[in-house]
Amino acid sequence: MEDKSATYSQLLPQMSALAESAPSLTSLLANTASLLHSSLGFWWTGFYLVSGEELILGPFQGPIACTRISFGKGVCGSAWQQRKTLCVDDVEQFPGHIACSSASRSEIVVPLLDDKDHVWGVLDIDSDRLAAFDHIDESNLSAMTDIISLFRSRHHSPVYHICLAGGCFWGLQHFLSLISGVLSTQVGFANGNITNPTYEQVYTDQTGFAEAVAVTYDSNRISLAFLLQLFFKTIDPTSLNRQGEDCGTRYRTGIYYSYPDRDLPVILDQLRRLQSSLQVPSAIEVLPLSNFYPADDSHQEYLRKNPSGYCHIPLHLFDVARNASDPSMSE
Ligand code: SME
Repeated sequence: MEDKSATYSQLLPQMSALAESAPSLTSLLANTASLLHSSLGFWWTGFYLVSGEELILGPFQGPIACTRISFGKGVCGSAWQQRKTLCVDDVEQFPGHIACSSASRSEIVVPLLDDKDHVWGVLDIDSDRLAAFDHIDESNLSAMTDIISLFRSRHHSPVYHICLAGGCFWGLQHFLSLISGVLSTQVGFANGNITNPTYEQVYTDQTGFAEAVAVTYDSNRISLAFLLQLFFKTIDPTSLNRQGEDCGTRYRTGIYYSYPDRDLPVILDQLRRLQSSLQVPSAIEVLPLSNFYPADDSHQEYLRKNPSGYCHIPLHLFDVARNASDPSMSE
């Protein structure tokens, strides 16, 4: 299942890139269906869109499907009614399941929510295997549907990613997740030299990975420059391979980018400004993001789950993150 997580973590930036260039919602839905379907080997992958009291078939990949589903009917209509993701291990056990294809054995339906939490459609995925979907699908598909809903509300989605390393990822994730305009965060291991590393492997300092936080943000609400200025508050930029009590190359400080043309000039400008306030050279690594593997669930949102857990970042900085507002953004 680690492979599935790794696949999803590669799909999310692709999704953002699709959203960045999509000329319409229909084309984004069509390409999302294709991306998911071809990458994860589903049986049927597509969208139903709310129209009055019904869901109407939208862009999809897979066999011909039913075109109308009433509110509250089937898995799709139930997910709409309950406004939550439904994960069905065996569709035959789901009362009222609508069988578009006899090959479908399990199903996940993720509602698409607008700014006011109203459902405007659903993402429906079927598998020809029983119990093919779990919390990994649920959390990643929900991140993807968030990107789509943001695109819909703005028409032109301004969602980007940046990967930041600054010592132990528990505290850094918490700090970044509190910032307005940050849409999602995920802790993991960046720029190493093996596939699917475990925390224990990274801990040996032999894999080349840095503990890092992959950040998705809405560039209409926060600029990369401001995000980096906030990030700099959490680190000692002159400290090589050490932040707080944590030392080793896995705790090095780094900025790993995915959009060189757009992001590298901003990163270099912010580093130049930072450097002018330092007496010694900064130890911050700046590189393209070459790979990123999410850490397991026990590390995700660690400080939210364990509020008194270890944190190397001074606690008052969490209020700084909560109250931060990018002055370059218009009201
Ligand atoms: N099984 C769905 C209907 C849509 S097909 O899976 C494509 C449901 O019960 O709502």
